[in-house]
Amino acid sequence: MAESMTGLKRTHRCTEVSNADVGKKVVVMGWVQKRRNLGSLIFVDLRDRSGLLQIVFDTKDVGEAGFEKAGKLRSEYVVAVVGTVAMREAAINENLPTGDIEIRAVELRILSESLTPPFPIEEDSQTKDEVRLKYRYLDLRRPDLQRNLIMRSRVATRIRTFLAEEGFLEIETPILNKSTPEGARDYLVPSRIHHGCFYALPQSPQLFKQLLMCAGYDRYFQIAKCFRDEDLRADRQPEFTQVDMELSFVDIDDVIDVNERLLAKVFEETIGVEVPLPIPRMTWQEAMDRYGSDKPDIRFGMELRDVSELVKDCEFGVFTGALEQGGSVRGINAKGQGTMPRKKIDSLVKFAKDFGAKGLAYLSVQEDGSYKSSFAKFMTEEELQSLVSAMDGEPGDLLFFAADKNKVVWDVLGNLRLELARNLDLLDKNEYKFIWITEFPLLEWSEEQNRYVAMHHPFTMPMEEDLDKLDSDPGAVRAKAYDIVLNGTELGGGSVRIFQNDVQEKMFEVLGFTKEAAHEQFGFLMDAFQYGVPPHAGLAYGLDRLIMLMAKEDSIREVIAFPKVKDASCLMTQAPDVVDEKQLEELAIAVQPEENE
Ligand code: AMO
Ligand code: AMP
Repeated sequence: MAESMTGLKRTHRCTEVSNADVGKKVVVMGWVQKRRNLGSLIFVDLRDRSGLLQIVFDTKDVGEAGFEKAGKLRSEYVVAVVGTVAMREAAINENLPTGDIEIRAVELRILSESLTPPFPIEEDSQTKDEVRLKYRYLDLRRPDLQRNLIMRSRVATRIRTFLAEEGFLEIETPILNKSTPEGARDYLVPSRIHHGCFYALPQSPQLFKQLLMCAGYDRYFQIAKCFRDEDLRADRQPEFTQVDMELSFVDIDDVIDVNERLLAKVFEETIGVEVPLPIPRMTWQEAMDRYGSDKPDIRFGMELRDVSELVKDCEFGVFTGALEQGGSVRGINAKGQGTMPRKKIDSLVKFAKDFGAKGLAYLSVQEDGSYKSSFAKFMTEEELQSLVSAMDGEPGDLLFFAADKNKVVWDVLGNLRLELARNLDLLDKNEYKFIWITEFPLLEWSEEQNRYVAMHHPFTMPMEEDLDKLDSDPGAVRAKAYDIVLNGTELGGGSVRIFQNDVQEKMFEVLGFTKEAAHEQFGFLMDAFQYGVPPHAGLAYGLDRLIMLMAKEDSIREVIAFPKVKDASCLMTQAPDVVDEKQLEELAIAVQPEENE
C-alpha cells in the first residue's frame, strides 16, 4: 500500500549529499536500485537522476517496524527516507560520488511499489532494443540515457543563451503548413474543414525563416521539430530537431564565423572539448576527390588517388573500359594490410558491390617486392610499378582500385575507406574533427525524375562566377552552400539564399517548374520578395546528431527520449494506429481495404 509523503520535504538529491553533511538530518527520495540484507543490517542503494546513495537500516535507528518495512523493499520501489548522514565504516566505493558516506535511516515510507521490471535498470544494458523501446519509461531510468538527455538539455540551453547574446531572436513557425521542399516525402494532415485538402508537416522552417528576414527580424533562430517521411537509419528519424537559424545582410563568412564560435563554446562548456578555430574548409570537389564523400571523416588518412592517367593505355579492359565511358580509375592504400587473407578481401569485394561496384581490383605488395593481384597479369611490370608508386605502395601494403563512373567510384571507395577504418579500429570517439564543405554543386541530375533537382534546396544562391552557366551547363554550376561535418557525419547545412526574383525564376525554370507551378507552390515567397528583401543566409544543425556525437553514441535513438523504430512506428504507444470511423467520416476520408496477402 502506498504511503503519503505528507509532512516530508526532500532536502537533497542522492548525490547532493556529501561528507560535508555528516551528522546532518536529511530527507531523500528515489527508486530502490538494490537491497542487501546483512543480518542485523539492511543496505539499500537509492537512485535518482543524480546517481546513487547508500541507505542503512538498523533497528536501533529505525525501530522494529521500520526495519521490517525495509525488508520488504524491492527493486524500483519509490521511497522516502529520513536519516542522518554518516561516514561509511566499510565498503567505501571510490567509483561513486557518495561512495564514502551513507544515510542511517530513522524513517522509511514506501510511496509506490513496483512490479519486477522486465530488464534490470543499469548502465550498458544488454537488453534487446525492442524490449527497451516497448518499456521506454523504464529504459529512460538507466544512467546512460539519463546522462544523454541531461546533456541534451544543457546543450540546448547553452545554444539558446549564446544565440540570444549574439542578437538572435527565437521565433516559432507553424507546424501545419503547405509543403516545403527539402527533398523528402511529406507527412500529411487531413483538414476537417476543407475536405480533400491537407496540411504538410514542416520538413524544415525554411520558407518561414526567409519570410522573417523579409519582415526585418534580422537574426532568427529556433529549436524546431522537423518531419520527413524517409527511410530511417542510425542518424535519421521521421521527426527530429533542428537548431535552425537565418541572418540578414550577411555572406558565407559571417554565417561560418558565428557558427564556429557557437560550436567552440558549446563543446568547451558542456563536454570540455576544445575546438580549434578556424575550422578547416574544403570544397565539395576536393572532398570527393580525396575522400569519396561530401561528409569526409578526417580523423584518418587513407585518401583516394586518381590513377586514370597511369592506366589509360594498359591491357586491363575493366580499367580502360571505364575510362572510355568517361569514368575514372581510383585507388586507396590500406597500409600494412598486405597479408589480409583472401576470404577477408572477398568480403570487401562484396561490400564494394553493395555500393554499386561491378568489382574491386586489388594488389598486395609482398615483402619481397613481388605482387599478388587480381589484375597484375594484364599489366606490364613498368605499369604496375608506376601504379604502386602513385599509391605510395610499400611492401606490406594492400591497394584497392575501382573503375566506373566517378559517382560510383567515389561512393565505393569512400565507403570502403570507412569500412577499413572500422575494421582497423582507426575511429576514436574521443577525437572531434570538424570540417566545412563548401562550393557544392547547385544541381544534381535525377535519373528517376529525368531532370535536375536542387542539391540543397531551390532557394540556394548560385556562385556569382557560375551564374552564366545556368543555361549552358547547369550541372557545372556551384552553389553558395556549406555543410558542417563532424567525424564523417553531416551535422548541419545551409546556404546563402537567392533574394532576386529573376534568379529565383531562372532557378525554378532549370528545375523544370512551369511559371504557374512555381507560383502555385511558392508564390507567397516570390510575392514577399517584391516588397524589399535583404540579402540573407542561414544554416540548420541536426540537434540529435550533434548530441549523438557529443555523447559518443552510435544512433540518435540514444539521445531522443521517445524515438521511433525502423518502420517509423513507436513500440511503446503503438503509433501509428487506426482511427474511429467517425473521425474518418468527419475528414471525408475512406481507407482502402488492404489487398489480401
Ligand atoms: P538539411 O536538409 O540539410 O537543411 O537539414 C539540416 C540538418 O538536419 C539534420 N537532419 C536530420 N536529422 C535526423 N533525422 C533526419 N531525418 C534528418 N534530416 C536532416 C541533419 C542536417 O544536416 N532548411 C535547410 C537548412 C538551411 O538551408 O538553412 C535544411 O533543412 O543534421
Ligand atoms: P574480371 O575480369 O571481371 O574477372 O575482373 C578481374 C578483376 O577486376 C576482379 O578482381 C574484379 O573484382 C575486378 N573488377 C571487375 N570490375 C571492376 C571495376 N569496375 N572496378 C575495379 N575492379 C573491377
